[in-house]
Amino acid sequence: MTAKYEVHSSVAVITLDNPPVNGLGHATRLGITDALQKANADTAVKSIVLTGAGKAFSGGADIKEFGSSKALAEPNLLSVILALENSSKPVVAAVHSVCMGGGLELALGCHYRIAAPGCNVALPEVKLGLIPGAGGTQRLPRALGVEPALNMIVSGEAVKSELLARIPGQKLFDKMAASAESLAEEALAFAQSISDTRPLPLVRNLPCKHPEGDAYFQFARNMVKGMAKNFPAPGKCVDAVEAATKKKFDEGMAFEREIFTALMFTPECRALRHMFTAERAASKIPDVPADTPQRDIQSVAVIGAGTMGGGIAMNFLNAGIPVKMLEMKQEALDKGLATIRKNYEAQVKKGKLKQDKYDQRMSLLTTTLSYDELKDADMVIEAVFEEMGVKEKVFKELDRVMKPGAILASNTSTLDVNKIAAFTKRPQDVVGMHFFSPANIMKLLEVVRGEKTGKDVLATVMAVSKKIRKTAVVSGVCDGFIGNRMIEQYGRQGGFLLDEGCTPAQVDKAIEKFGFAMGPFRMGDLAGNDIGWAIRKRRYQEKPDMKYSKTADLLCEKGRFGQKTGAGWYDYVPGKRDAIPNAEVVKMIEDHRAAVGITPRKISDEEIVQRLVYSLVNEAAHILEEGIASRASDIDMVYLMGYGFPIYRGGPMNYADQVGLFNVVQAMNRFAQNPLDDAKFWQPAPLLARLVAEGKTFN
Ligand code: NAI
Repeated sequence: MTAKYEVHSSVAVITLDNPPVNGLGHATRLGITDALQKANADTAVKSIVLTGAGKAFSGGADIKEFGSSKALAEPNLLSVILALENSSKPVVAAVHSVCMGGGLELALGCHYRIAAPGCNVALPEVKLGLIPGAGGTQRLPRALGVEPALNMIVSGEAVKSELLARIPGQKLFDKMAASAESLAEEALAFAQSISDTRPLPLVRNLPCKHPEGDAYFQFARNMVKGMAKNFPAPGKCVDAVEAATKKKFDEGMAFEREIFTALMFTPECRALRHMFTAERAASKIPDVPADTPQRDIQSVAVIGAGTMGGGIAMNFLNAGIPVKMLEMKQEALDKGLATIRKNYEAQVKKGKLKQDKYDQRMSLLTTTLSYDELKDADMVIEAVFEEMGVKEKVFKELDRVMKPGAILASNTSTLDVNKIAAFTKRPQDVVGMHFFSPANIMKLLEVVRGEKTGKDVLATVMAVSKKIRKTAVVSGVCDGFIGNRMIEQYGRQGGFLLDEGCTPAQVDKAIEKFGFAMGPFRMGDLAGNDIGWAIRKRRYQEKPDMKYSKTADLLCEKGRFGQKTGAGWYDYVPGKRDAIPNAEVVKMIEDHRAAVGITPRKISDEEIVQRLVYSLVNEAAHILEEGIASRASDIDMVYLMGYGFPIYRGGPMNYADQVGLFNVVQAMNRFAQNPLDDAKFWQPAPLLARLVAEGKTFN
């Protein structure tokens, strides 16, 4: 049973006990209704307290049950809440720590509520593409007032109990406990004090009105439309709360249910739920058990104070972990330090960072020119030039000075981590930590697992990534790891599209309309087209049969490297990031077409999107099959967190599943017929072909 039952003099106490957050799974729901029945049958009991054990009152629905028949199995949450309302003895919810989603709906079904200060109260369903589905949209406006309730429901954000208690006229909390520690005792006393009060108050009976309803909801709708863009749920939150002010309670409940059920089947909701589970899955490594011992990371060293080194250092400073940065020359150190200062100062100016926090972070940062001064660091991350010779020197030095057990990480984006590990006598301590630029902002961290990387090292790095608020995804060793290996194919398709008749702006617009934060050409300009150029030069040697459009090389020959040179595929005005189409670039592409004898054709947005996205999917299928990624959902996380793939489409693999893998392969077969494309590349990866044959999906 996942709810405990005890009687303290005349008060029955029902305690949800389903760690970690007392999720309202079927067994817990059954526990509550059984206990309620017992309390109502016991003549010695006069009133009832409902509370939660451990770290939460309740975090809400059990996500594991989503989409399964268990979620609806009786007693479902609506029935439990009805049972609470119908209890002939008063029920007092004693909420603390976390009271969210179904947990808050449960509390709203009780006759009274007492809250501990510091309790995080929220209806976060909108973050999963839903609206609250067990009365939240109908009861919270009655208990809290229409506007504060709608704000909470539309944003999904948590608000502290003590702030809610201060809202004039609120009926959400009948009492605030003095502290979390005294909550249990105060709840018992409160339950005794109201044991004889009749009739029992119900939130459903409270009035729900807004003095300027029509104007207010019109305003709310406009606001939400602007912010929610491709997501239907926020707008539906407004509809549901408006219904609370206009319909009878039971009609409002039916309306809420109707919306909830319809949203459940939208691709946006599926994508958000997929992302939710994918994020949790990514933190687990199949052959590294959760109880794998971890190394203690109290201090970090960073080698190289350039673009990446500085951003990496900031992540640790933000988390309160001291950093020592090493460079070869004092000037480089000074420059790196100045950039970090400038970044923090910009945050202080914008009011995002308090001055004392800034001072505190800077005080955790020290610099050095000598490897010997790094020896005590628990972890060192190398971010020097991307050349094997340079990495060799650095790792030999690290091997010489670092204390035994220190983790030696490389931020390399293309080099072989196994080779880097072999420069040391402790390859088990070597791992890739591939951050994305700007490293202090981008959420993604690819953790590159070398052949010999120790399991405890992996477990430690995954834990550290959480501390510095990154979404870590494990990748095996291959050229480009998961993300960049896929993006190379996507970039190649972008090039073919130019050859065949598109302009850079047409390609970018089509894929941005699909939802990408930035199309391939704007992205190239941001990252620096010279980087891709260097990679291609290497490829021309390694893989002479691999086909590329020549347009990107021609662009680089003109010195148009992107934003940093003020000119790339587009032009840029200093200090601005707007991409301005350039007639010369378009002419360069046209001249190239003429030179190689291509007659341009009109290419639809649909074809552009399919070629770009399915090139990611096919490469990803190879990556999955080779074991470079351990799950399709990990690949989705890489693209959602690091490459601006539209969140509401749930990542390339989830998107392909939604389109249907059969349809994806049909399109690939069509692309293979195009003589200007790469027929060999469009051969469906064996895994993809197998899934189609078996009628299966990636996820
Ligand atoms: P950068 O050129 O901005 O910085 C490299 C820094 O390392 C320079 O300050 C240089 O003085 C220093 N350095 C070079 N040799 C050194 C040595 N032997 N000892 C100490 N310091 C040394 O380069 P960036 O962009 O920061 O790249 C660094 C690493 O991060 C590379 O491996 C790169 O592939 C990787 N990376 C870069 C990304 C990017 O978007 N720039 C993204 C992800 C990874």
